[in-house]
Amino acid sequence: MTPSTVAQLLKQTTLQEVEIKGWVRTFRANRFIALNDGSTINNIQCVVDFENTDESILKRITTGAAVHIKGNLVESQGKGQSVEITVNSIEILGDSDPETYPIQPRKHGFEFLRKNAHLRTRTNTFSAVMRLRSALSFAVHKYFNENGFYYMHTPIITGSDAEGAGEMFRVSTLDQKNPPLMESGEIDHSQNFFGKDTNLTVSGQLEAETYAMSLGKVYTFGPTFRAENSNTSRHLSEFWMIEPEVAFMDLAGNMDLAEDFMKSVINHVLENNKEDLEFLDKRLADEDKTKPQAERNELSLIEKLKFVTENNFKRVSYTEAIDILRNSKPNKKKKFKYHIEEWGADLQSEHERFLVEKHFKCPVILFDYPANIKAFYMRLNEDGKTVRAMDILFPGIGEIVGGSQREERLDVLKDKMAALDIPEEELWWYLDLRKYGTAVHSGFGLGFERLVMFATGMSNIRDVIPYPRTPQNAEF
Ligand code: 4AD
Ligand code: MG
Repeated sequence: MTPSTVAQLLKQTTLQEVEIKGWVRTFRANRFIALNDGSTINNIQCVVDFENTDESILKRITTGAAVHIKGNLVESQGKGQSVEITVNSIEILGDSDPETYPIQPRKHGFEFLRKNAHLRTRTNTFSAVMRLRSALSFAVHKYFNENGFYYMHTPIITGSDAEGAGEMFRVSTLDQKNPPLMESGEIDHSQNFFGKDTNLTVSGQLEAETYAMSLGKVYTFGPTFRAENSNTSRHLSEFWMIEPEVAFMDLAGNMDLAEDFMKSVINHVLENNKEDLEFLDKRLADEDKTKPQAERNELSLIEKLKFVTENNFKRVSYTEAIDILRNSKPNKKKKFKYHIEEWGADLQSEHERFLVEKHFKCPVILFDYPANIKAFYMRLNEDGKTVRAMDILFPGIGEIVGGSQREERLDVLKDKMAALDIPEEELWWYLDLRKYGTAVHSGFGLGFERLVMFATGMSNIRDVIPYPRTPQNAEF
């Protein structure tokens, strides 16, 4: 007999001999094991005949132990489950010392669980979050596959800074204590592993553009790295980004694509991950009860997800948004940390969240930002001062997507690079796209962890990626 999973057995209606392997969540009254194997948020109850089981075995049935159980699937006598297993034999595969096992059968704080991230998926919350993360990732590939996109693997090590923000991790094999120097005293990167200075990618966009300009519709989904020193609940130093790039698509088409895509992946989990979502919905409601009224969520987690899939995202230009913000109560009462005075100001997350959560009360797409607060590659508008950029703002998250129509005119792009001191030699291949068959094209980047935060209701980004990398922290 091949062992079943807990998920299979809980759905099974034929009562028969079964076999299962998993970890003990709790063992109660020397009789009831709650067993979990990761296949579902639910445990299966296994009832031990303690009178006919060795005392030495009973002692080893402890929280966290791995066990192999053979028994009979029967209708459950107790409440809360339709079936249970009457145990015929139990083998302890791996003991767990109840004195030292960190994951006790009670509530643990998230900070404690971050320190025990290697064991935290043995809790209901983290197993649900990580199953959802997996499902969302599948939904991403499914969406693009069904819509004619090719999946492209963009390089992790690169010589260019796509976002021009200079927040990169250097990749080097040079002797750190004694690097080869040029006459000028600067480090001689021609002797470095790649013969030049390289870094971990901050975005796969520039390479994705090259493929869009031949394969038409492509996307990347991979890890990206940013050495920005922001210790917030929404920033990671290593995060996963989804970046579609499409030839012959303008900014309006880009917004349509992003909205349809976001709705589709959220719908996927609403349809396929009900049990985990229901658990997380309840978790969030319980957490809310501990907060003051003003900070509580107006909608439950599942209501919030449905709200996004069932309503149009509000499209607002940067200029309109600045007007709204300038005249807003928190701005007038100086409640914002960053006061909005004039057109051109960069929006902080407090402003984004005001627009989404207080003013529009729905997801918002802001577009046509001032050129000088956005990256070099964005298409300059006819007004000469704004670019065809768009950011999608979500409740509770702020910016979740950033994208744009790309500058397809060689001369305008060159001028922009010169103004920003971006050397043409570094991006000769990127400029080539504008020399040979250039065309309107657009794309965006979705921060995958921010999507997982939204879909799970978790409020710290460190809790939606298995092993978070943040300033001063790269454990595991
Ligand atoms: O807005 P960003 O910087 O845009 C780009 O990188 C473009 N190249 C995307 C494109 O057009 N292809 O980043 C895109 C998204 C943000 O909206 C945010 O969701 C996420 O990536 N992001 C982060 N997520 C976690 N930690 C960080 N430090 C992040 N920085 C950006
Ligand atoms: Mg951005």
